[in-house]
Amino acid sequence: MVRKAVIPCAGLGTRFLPATLAVPKELLPIDRKPAIQHIVADLVECGVDTVVLVISRGKEALLHYFLDDHRLAGKRLPPELTQSIEELALLRERVNVVAVYQEKPLGLGHAVLCAAPVVGDEPFLLALPDDHFRPSPTRQLVEAWEKYGKGAVALLEVPNEDVPRFGIVSVEREETPFLLLNDAVEKPTLEAAPSRLAIMGRYLFPPKVFEYLRNTPPGINSEIQLTDSMKTLAQKEGLVGVPVSGEYLDIGTWDSYVRTLMRLGLEDPAFREFLTRHLH
Ligand code: UTP
Repeated sequence: MVRKAVIPCAGLGTRFLPATLAVPKELLPIDRKPAIQHIVADLVECGVDTVVLVISRGKEALLHYFLDDHRLAGKRLPPELTQSIEELALLRERVNVVAVYQEKPLGLGHAVLCAAPVVGDEPFLLALPDDHFRPSPTRQLVEAWEKYGKGAVALLEVPNEDVPRFGIVSVEREETPFLLLNDAVEKPTLEAAPSRLAIMGRYLFPPKVFEYLRNTPPGINSEIQLTDSMKTLAQKEGLVGVPVSGEYLDIGTWDSYVRTLMRLGLEDPAFREFLTRHLH
């Protein structure tokens, strides 16, 4: 059973400045709900009962969103709003959301390490809030853990020019639908890259990863990189790759966020009409 998940949210959100001085990026809405709600709901669907948010000062609103809220008690709302408020209330009942602080943005690896006291000696899912998928690969990560007892990562085949922007994996062999991996390289040149399979923002780790993270020396900008300990994990214990079969919706930059909003908006028949009427 994989019961715990970590969502790192302590970053500065530089690419969304100045908005992120006031609002955590993870609370920006997609499809009318804060982005983080989609992620927590997906984790809960896959069996998670405890979500650890790694936050920095000023981002407490992320935790508050998942706590009981009686401000709307007794209020009459239109049916569609009642439905979405009830959906949120149900989600809050099904999951225990806690927050831990990362005092300084010392990198993704360091953020994950901040969650170690709450995760303890258990496997856990890790979800990056900028990355959304339809369908979600989370369930397959859990299936990989159940089948192999190894860590697992979501992978997306990227075009050549994008290879140097990602962590790239090396495939030892294929066991459909999984790939068995034996190495990971952070941002390689195209020539040095062992494949074009990029590590995306969904992972499942055994608790041993904390030990590897503690032993990872800080790299660029004094940050502890997650890929370094994934490399150790892949080399020492093996790692399972889960190729993403569907659509990847990125909300990490303003452009990609707007594109995702538009794409989802155009899918809603009522909203499509509104958008096409107002966009020229
Ligand atoms: P990013 O590198 O995308 O950083 O981190 P960011 O803050 O979200 O955005 P920019 O680059 O400044 O615009 C990937 C994920 O890891 C978290 C971020 O919150 C984000 O969800 N993170 C990153 C931390 O929690 N702590 C860190 O030290 C670094």
